[in-house]
Amino acid sequence: KKGNYEHYMEKEIFEQPESLTTTMRGRLIRGGESKLKSVVLGGLKDHLRTMRRSRRIIFIGCGTSYNAALAARPIIEELSGVPVTMELASDLLDRQGPIYREDTAVFVSQSGETADTLQALEYANSHGALCVGITNTVGSAIARGTHCGVHINAGCEIGVASTKAYTSQIAVMTMLALALGDDSMSSRNRREEIVDGLFDLPNKVKEVLKLDKDMKELAKLLTEEQSLLIFGRGYNYATALEGALKVKEVALMHSEGILAGEMKHGPLALVDETLPIIVIATRDATFRQALRPCFLLLTYSRSYALIPDSKQQSVIQQLRARKGRLIVICTKGDAEAVCPYGVSRVIEVPRVEDCLQPVINIVPLQLLAYHLTVLRGYNVDQPRNLAKSVTTQ
Ligand code: UD1
Ligand code: BG6
Repeated sequence: KKGNYEHYMEKEIFEQPESLTTTMRGRLIRGGESKLKSVVLGGLKDHLRTMRRSRRIIFIGCGTSYNAALAARPIIEELSGVPVTMELASDLLDRQGPIYREDTAVFVSQSGETADTLQALEYANSHGALCVGITNTVGSAIARGTHCGVHINAGCEIGVASTKAYTSQIAVMTMLALALGDDSMSSRNRREEIVDGLFDLPNKVKEVLKLDKDMKELAKLLTEEQSLLIFGRGYNYATALEGALKVKEVALMHSEGILAGEMKHGPLALVDETLPIIVIATRDATFRQALRPCFLLLTYSRSYALIPDSKQQSVIQQLRARKGRLIVICTKGDAEAVCPYGVSRVIEVPRVEDCLQPVINIVPLQLLAYHLTVLRGYNVDQPRNLAKSVTTQ
């Protein structure tokens, strides 16, 4: 049932505070006098030792599920110390890429039925890897065929464009990172902060959903465009890819997610005063504000000025220098710092723990894709040529 909503996609975007709560229910430990704040993933507890000892963790998926794994990759590498590689299922199969007994292969799939992912599972299994599933559908082929796994419990998702499953997948993979890092004392504070961040995440998603009207306004400005670029890096490289996937699959508009670090190696040639560009520049290690001494000539006194010291700010400046039509997604309160020369539009989002920021940052882009689709008059829930679950190769 769509309730008060016009489309399932809209309903599922707005359901995210609740779906995230269900995903985390019973899995977060609040901590206390003698207890540490931590996580419990019932389906993995007997396999964590094997995963920690594996030579590498390979994430395998298609579409949005692949993007969710990409968003979680940095925190899994940080907390587990195990190298993480990424595979689009079809590409792994085309290459018949090497997989070993010492590997852990993690299969990410909302439906649990995607043909390429399922075949990659058979392939990894036959090579002796530990196969772990992250699925939304209990009893699905991938849930049954993996040695162990985690159900994301996001509830049934009907819109072909995945929304709430994406944010729940990231939440589960962040919990996986916490579980893998559970044996390390040195990361204890970091892990406890992330657990706190997870507890508060549904509230922060509620807050970011208030941008709905702003995103509708922005969609009106962009309705007639042919193309939209989205730049992100670090934790939010995945956000750029996933935002662009939403825009192309439902709004039927060409859109490309680009790693901002690659900007100078090609994409910069596209920038002119007409092409709209979204830059994700929320606070993390790629965006910091530094206080640097500067000398005032007149008084010879030393004072301090805010000088851009972040990779993403320098990306914004370079795009501005080429007269790019910029829309910047930044942390609440950073609008002025982010746009010293003024940009077309700023979208301010609440700040959360860096590794959880992709969950917040994707929401305005989901809303933008939704409104663009409605304004352009296309089918929101069943985009042409696409299926919710691709069970043939
Ligand atoms: C389980 C119960 C849940 C109950 C909770 C109480 C199920 C489906 N879940 O949740 O209803 O409230 O215990 O402690 O009965 N698995 C895979 N591959 C996958 C996904 C899961 O093999 O892709 C396996 C897991 O290893 C586990 C089982 O399926 O053995 C259930 O997984 P999950 O629902 O995530 O476990 P719990 O959260 O413990
Ligand atoms: C299809 C869907 O292409 O399959 C996408 O339209 C989805 O939304 C992709 O991301 C992968 O599906 P699943 O079920 O394996 O996560």
